[in-house]
Amino acid sequence: MIADTLYLIAAVCFIFALSGLSRAESAQRGNLCGIFGMTTACVAAYLTTRSGDFWFVLIAVISGGGIGVFIAKAVSMTALPQMVAGFHSLVGLAAVLISFSACFAPELFRISTSSGIKVLSLLEMGLGSSIGAITFLGSIIAFLKLQGMYKGHSIPTSLNTFFAFAICCLLLCFMLTESEEAFLLLTLVSLLFGATLIMPIGGADMPVVVSMLNSYSGWATSGIGFTIANDLLIITGALVGSSGAILSYIMCKGMNRSLWSVIFTPEPAKSVNKSTFDEPRTFKSGAPEDAAFILKNANSVVVVPGYGMATSKAQHALKELGDILKKEGIGVKYAIHPVAGRMPGHMNVLLAEAGVPYDEVFELDEINRDFAFCDVAYVIGANDVVNPAAKNDPSCPIYGMPILDAEKAKIILFLKRSMGTGYAGVDNELFYISNTMMLLGDAKKTTENIIKAMQ
Ligand code: TAP
Repeated sequence: MIADTLYLIAAVCFIFALSGLSRAESAQRGNLCGIFGMTTACVAAYLTTRSGDFWFVLIAVISGGGIGVFIAKAVSMTALPQMVAGFHSLVGLAAVLISFSACFAPELFRISTSSGIKVLSLLEMGLGSSIGAITFLGSIIAFLKLQGMYKGHSIPTSLNTFFAFAICCLLLCFMLTESEEAFLLLTLVSLLFGATLIMPIGGADMPVVVSMLNSYSGWATSGIGFTIANDLLIITGALVGSSGAILSYIMCKGMNRSLWSVIFTPEPAKSVNKSTFDEPRTFKSGAPEDAAFILKNANSVVVVPGYGMATSKAQHALKELGDILKKEGIGVKYAIHPVAGRMPGHMNVLLAEAGVPYDEVFELDEINRDFAFCDVAYVIGANDVVNPAAKNDPSCPIYGMPILDAEKAKIILFLKRSMGTGYAGVDNELFYISNTMMLLGDAKKTTENIIKAMQ
């Protein structure tokens, strides 16, 4: 009874944690809620174990917590996607291991009757182990790709179709025969499927994949929760499963791509170092001194950060520039596109790390109208997220993707290293319009030089 109440409290804490984590301002509170919920869950788990198992629970909690603290301190902000992928692999592995325990020692979980294991439990175990195995190996491949340790291979769609079909057959066979061999084979084929599903996916699509694997790991956990009759696992698994699915959907919508095309069609063209227009175009380029003059004479500046700000680690210099502008009485706002950078919230995290106040950071819907009234759009390492082709050119791969209307600003300062394209491989008309000034070079160095020129 006490344990059930504690599980309920933990589940409510996890719901508040998720809602807190959805906004930068409340993220810390959300995190604390999650920590409290997890501690409560550990206490409840201890209360439901036999007294002799106390040391196992304690060792698991202390070593798990210790490793968590170490990883949180050691991993850099830019390595967060691979860290998340690594953690998901553990969730998948846990689901597989619990399914194995339930399959090989059903009496411990009270799921067997005189005529054998209940069919529903067999289904839950089979699904838990299969989804867990897909998540486990899929997440490891995602980790290796994000870490740059593995480039990937193309896999024929027919092989994946075969694996998917084999998994369905083996699951059915396991439910009908309760055969341990079928269960082992099901897990093995699912492991292979997890690898072949993720191997061909392009590195830059990995954030969508990681959030999709997050969703899988949640559903696997939920399935196992039914098997071992643990309400907290069912609720937490459903929360993780649905939030991962929603996040994947939001990312795909922000890129105007379908989840199907991310998984089953090749990655879009990679960034190239030259313009892809047929004829050479003229553009205006400027020096940091020119940019400093323009900024000093502005009343309002909207900053559009993108992937290049992350790679050049320009966020601290950008914050310094923002502070100087504010001291001069110039209004500064930051405009965040939902898929700017390479992972959800990428820009928000970097700006928060640099200490940019939350109330200066706005989402696309909140700020898009401001471009028409601002003097300068300071586009730092962004490209696709301000490309007007997404609105004007139906043949362009990003057509339909909502963009930040930087072209409506009086002057656009564009910080990037070359006239090359961004992630989508699409040239940007904005580089060549009369009110754009290209500031070619590393975004951090250029921003630092602008600061010097302003001082
Ligand atoms: P991109 O369109 O990829 O443009 C980034 C630009 O940064 C490039 O054009 C590059 O130009 C420049 N750059 C790179 N290193 C730089 C440096 N050191 N200094 C200055 N500039 C540098 O980025 P975006 O505008 O942020 O758009 C994101 C893209 O990624 C979208 O197409 C989106 O669909 C995709 N995507 C996003 C996500 C998520 S969840 N955020 C996930 C998957 C894919 P140079 O090479 O000329 O410098």
